[in-house]
Amino acid sequence: MHPRALVMAAALLITLPTAAAGLRDLAQAAGIHFGTAVNVEALNTDAAYAHLLAREFNLVTPENAMKFTVVHPERERYDFTQADALVAFAEAHAMQVNGHVLVWHQQLPDWLMQGQFSQDELKAILREHIQTLVTRYRGRVASWDVAAEAVGEDGQPRDTFWSRGIGPDYLALAFRWAHEADPQAHLRYNDYGGEGAGAKADGIYRIVADLRWQGVPIHGVGLQMHVSPDDAPPSKDLRANLQRLAALGLATHISEMDVMLPVPASRANLNKQAVIYRDTLKVCLAQPQCRSFSTWGTTDRYSWIPEYFPGKGAALLFGEDGQPKPVYESVRRVLRAARASKR
Ligand code: G3I
Repeated sequence: MHPRALVMAAALLITLPTAAAGLRDLAQAAGIHFGTAVNVEALNTDAAYAHLLAREFNLVTPENAMKFTVVHPERERYDFTQADALVAFAEAHAMQVNGHVLVWHQQLPDWLMQGQFSQDELKAILREHIQTLVTRYRGRVASWDVAAEAVGEDGQPRDTFWSRGIGPDYLALAFRWAHEADPQAHLRYNDYGGEGAGAKADGIYRIVADLRWQGVPIHGVGLQMHVSPDDAPPSKDLRANLQRLAALGLATHISEMDVMLPVPASRANLNKQAVIYRDTLKVCLAQPQCRSFSTWGTTDRYSWIPEYFPGKGAALLFGEDGQPKPVYESVRRVLRAARASKR
């Protein structure tokens, strides 16, 4: 073969996803990141799980490893053991990291919740917390869920430890502090239950629009998409929602998708699940500002669902044994087709 033909053949092999390519390669060719939440304890102990992560995903979010209670267990002590392990793994496998989560009302340590701090003290604590994390991983963590779940089910701002302790501008402050610590990082607001139409979706829209209008450095919105076949939003509502967020100048992300089923899962439900993932991914791929699609976990073995919703599970792309489920093939087909028509 002519040497130039050899070089071209080699280049094709490098750039074109092969039949055995993981979803990450297909997603990259389609113009989005394909992500998952990572259980770092499993990452450290289960080689098959680590292998699956590296093969299929190019974006990882620590499921718990960067949460306040894990990373900042005492006022004067941080513990980055798990967070560092995840970031190192991601770097070794050319994955982006989405830091999760800087301001949230859950998984807060006792020293903080029971500390009786003044407003100024709480501001100082939160600023130090945010800037310690963001500075540590500057240039290594590409995006941060700066704030999560700050909107209640009625669409009104949620009354939380942070809103009570600091006041309504706590969100704006958090984004500004994160931006100071890493001006290059993509800063997101992340919430559940507001993917389609309704009061909560409108509340999320209002809160991020208000931050934009104030000139706060917010760059993206994550719609979590924890759903079941009974309550998944219609595609047209998700599409309209992504569209109006994009019109604010914000990127969007499907940030924590899973589709819980009664277990053991029936074939009919596994097929419904495949359709819901497929349709959600299609809507994301059709919206140029939708930058990533992440599932909240990889195998059903490590999913949070069975603990929180007894009798439910089977929510992810891979079964407890790590084998792909019907949903995997349907996601794969959508990514292949998107690559072919290149956005
Ligand atoms: O790490 C401790 C362990 O030391 C202890 O022995 C054990 C006893 O219960 O608890 C362990 O902590 C658990 C932690 O997950 C790590 O496994 C907590 O109890 C448990 O509540 C916690 O659940 C996490 C939940 O957030 C906390 O609210 C789930 O794994 C995690 O999937 C879930 O993730 C959230 C996102 O952050 C935000 N969006 C919604 C999503 C689902 O709820």
